[in-house]
Amino acid sequence: MSVVAVIGGQWGDEGKGRVVDLLAQQSHMVIRYSGGNNAGHTVINDRGTFKLHLVPAGIFNSETVNIIGTGVVVDPAALLEEMETLAAAGVTFDNLFISDRAHVIMPYHLEQDRIQESQRGDGRIGTTGRGVGPAYSDKMERIGIRMGDLLHEETLLPRVRRALDVKNKLLELYGGQPQSLEPTYAKLREYGQALKARIATTHPLVQQAIGRGDRILLEGAQASLLDVDWGTYPYVTSSAPGAAGACQGAGIGPRQVSSVLGVFKAYSTRVGGGPFPTELLDETGTELRERGHEYGTTTGRPRRCGWFDAVAARYVVELNGIDHLAITKLDVLDTLPTLQICTGYQLGDQTINYMPSSDVELSQVKPIYEELPGWQTSTDDARSFDELPPNAQRYLLRLEELTGAPATLISVGPARDASIERVPTYSFFA
Ligand code: GDP
Ligand code: IMO
Ligand code: MG
Repeated sequence: MSVVAVIGGQWGDEGKGRVVDLLAQQSHMVIRYSGGNNAGHTVINDRGTFKLHLVPAGIFNSETVNIIGTGVVVDPAALLEEMETLAAAGVTFDNLFISDRAHVIMPYHLEQDRIQESQRGDGRIGTTGRGVGPAYSDKMERIGIRMGDLLHEETLLPRVRRALDVKNKLLELYGGQPQSLEPTYAKLREYGQALKARIATTHPLVQQAIGRGDRILLEGAQASLLDVDWGTYPYVTSSAPGAAGACQGAGIGPRQVSSVLGVFKAYSTRVGGGPFPTELLDETGTELRERGHEYGTTTGRPRRCGWFDAVAARYVVELNGIDHLAITKLDVLDTLPTLQICTGYQLGDQTINYMPSSDVELSQVKPIYEELPGWQTSTDDARSFDELPPNAQRYLLRLEELTGAPATLISVGPARDASIERVPTYSFFA
């Protein structure tokens, strides 16, 4: 078995795209297993700079099979646009397959997302507005349209009619625009035509690859602290972005996964609403944002920045059985004289070392910090652990101790080669 799950360890944007791009060099298959085009995965490699939303980050190797898995929700218009942008850079898609079981983000989902956010007022989640939550809700409600349906025009029409009957009543209730059957159906047929060579029953492809012992990467989107069960509910996304969701969304059993690689930034960021105990609202926060170019890949929104939260990270390591940490953006800390790591929370007169389930309590906790000296030296050119300044090494070793997992992969710049591999990356697959 050679399956590696690459998952986000914080609130998203940890650099999953860059890690998958690196590991995809040695992979036969990459499967995006959850989320939709709320994700924005930046990849900088010899082909250029790319912002991927739905297309797996293994697409740059024509030998690697890329699958948009069953657990993903697909906006066909967004996917076609993304493919067009990639095609302009010379990327081809013979190696891309979309699960016929993946659900479609419909135009009414976008409308619903927008209206629901505006009605949440101060409690708004700060969704990406891509219709992802409403699409997952309809999947559970069992009125979803799936990618495979786009290829069956005779059954598509009654399915869309049934869905619209329900959705239009709701949209009217919300004060939104009802949507008509004919143009909706016509558009879906058009998408079906455009994508028909790419929509497939992906299960046999995956199981044959597992049977051959191929190296398979499961590409996460979002992150564990945005998980609908384990994240900072209700300020979460509507899927299960962790290792369990990887199995479910890709269609493989937990015992077929050889290792789980958790991607963490060397500090923390979050975009959208919700509690963030280590958030920095001072000039250090601004420095992190500017040095780290912390603006959303999908929405362009400024990301909230803060110190590394080891309480949250250890929780995520436990939830997902993380075997290795990939610590990204270490270089962003290069200028800071001192660094803080959160090792516990003060909640009222209590000290706790876990994340409370209540968003109210989590927004009240005061982080307990451990201070470490900075290194104030550029790490840009380091390509081995030994080449890192001693204080950077100490920082990483402390993160390992506090989280309980080894920092096996470290990155010191956005490009593929700005990586420190403390063990050969092929060993993740063993
Ligand atoms: P993802 O959603 O987890 O794939 O992450 P994003 O692409 O949304 O955000 C990560 C951002 O950090 C992107 O702009 C990357 O180019 C950038 N990045 C990734 N790794 C590094 C790194 O080691 N150093 C620096 N400076 N930037 C990085
Ligand atoms: P990647 O894969 C960061 C956040 C949104 C919002 C919440 C719910 O690039 O790491 P949604 O549109 O999913 O209903 O929004 O989740 N969010 C992300 N934040 N990175 C992402 O993806 C995200 N996808 C969703 O900002 O707070
Ligand atoms: Mg992102």
